[in-house]
Amino acid sequence: MRVLGIETSCDETAAAVYDGERGLLAHRLHSQVELHARYGGVVPELASRDHVRMLTPLVEAVLEESGTRENEPGSSLTGIAYTAGPGLQGALLVGAAFARSFAFARGLPAVGVHHLEGHLLAPMLEPEPPAFPFLALLVSGGHTLLIAVEGVGRYQILGGSLDDAAGEAFDKTAKLLGLGYPGGPALAALAEKGRPGKFDFPRPMLDRPGLDFSFSGLKTAVVVAVRGLHAQAGAELDEQTLADVARGFQDAVVDTLVAKCARALQQTGAGTLVVAGGVGANRELRARLQALGRKAGVKVSYPRPEFCTDNAAMIAYAGWTRLEAGQSDDLEIRAAARWPLDSLQGTNG
Ligand code: KG4
Ligand code: ZN
Repeated sequence: MRVLGIETSCDETAAAVYDGERGLLAHRLHSQVELHARYGGVVPELASRDHVRMLTPLVEAVLEESGTRENEPGSSLTGIAYTAGPGLQGALLVGAAFARSFAFARGLPAVGVHHLEGHLLAPMLEPEPPAFPFLALLVSGGHTLLIAVEGVGRYQILGGSLDDAAGEAFDKTAKLLGLGYPGGPALAALAEKGRPGKFDFPRPMLDRPGLDFSFSGLKTAVVVAVRGLHAQAGAELDEQTLADVARGFQDAVVDTLVAKCARALQQTGAGTLVVAGGVGANRELRARLQALGRKAGVKVSYPRPEFCTDNAAMIAYAGWTRLEAGQSDDLEIRAAARWPLDSLQGTNG
């Protein structure tokens, strides 16, 4: 099977081609970061319009690059996968309508993919993919989840954030420090120049049992600290102080995520930990989880950083597993802003 994957759930337009025998053949992405930067966040209507503008050229590019030809056995598409949710409704609809029509015109099956399933399966595109079952830490702009993954579509949520997602906390704190939008990667880069221990922020929920997270209190602690610094130093904070605050914040988030992963590994007895989602690109988090894995005798598996953040390669792959298992949708155009991950169907794979 050769599958075209399409991702338009938020502010990235992406297309990819995955081939069951030859693996990932092409993937392209257009980021809308510049479009939304001056508004300080994603403007849904602008996101949808830009998906309309970019989708056709990106799809043409990946079909060309992968050597995909219509009606040529072995090199033609056999199915289409698109992100059907969760995400921004209008943005999802652009990808869904495009993908469904593209499939209909060619008489191909189409399947709507859950965006988080895409993230969870992204490490399968790496040279040493993890084996089922595994424990997954899914940390993105919208979610912070610990999930027991038994197989494709078989997901049990063990814990999640009660308020802000980890990526959201990174973005909001970055904004507070004047790092613009989207701030997560900029905050992480600044934290690398910061000195550890200069700011000791709370490690939320560590003193409580269970596997849930909470990041809004930490964000407030940073707000209070920064206000205090401004009161002392006036309007401008120097670069080193900002870096120290960033370091204190990142260390608190990473400590919390690592401690809950350790607890979940102990509870489940899982032998593999998969880290997925945009915050999974964070170098400090990757290094600390790697160290945890060595200590606990657990294999830690990540997608390459560009497949931690949103992309279409993971959607093409997730769609391929479902099409390969004989699953596809009817002619409906599926776009669901909300879609519980634990309501998916398995593939017995
Ligand atoms: O998975 P993703 O691309 O989109 C969602 O589905 O949400 O994740 C985006 C999130 C943003 O909040 C971004 O700031 C964060 O991931 N992020 C990072 C890093 N790279 C991306 N957070 C911390 N450190 C990074 N290196
Ligand atoms: Zn995502």
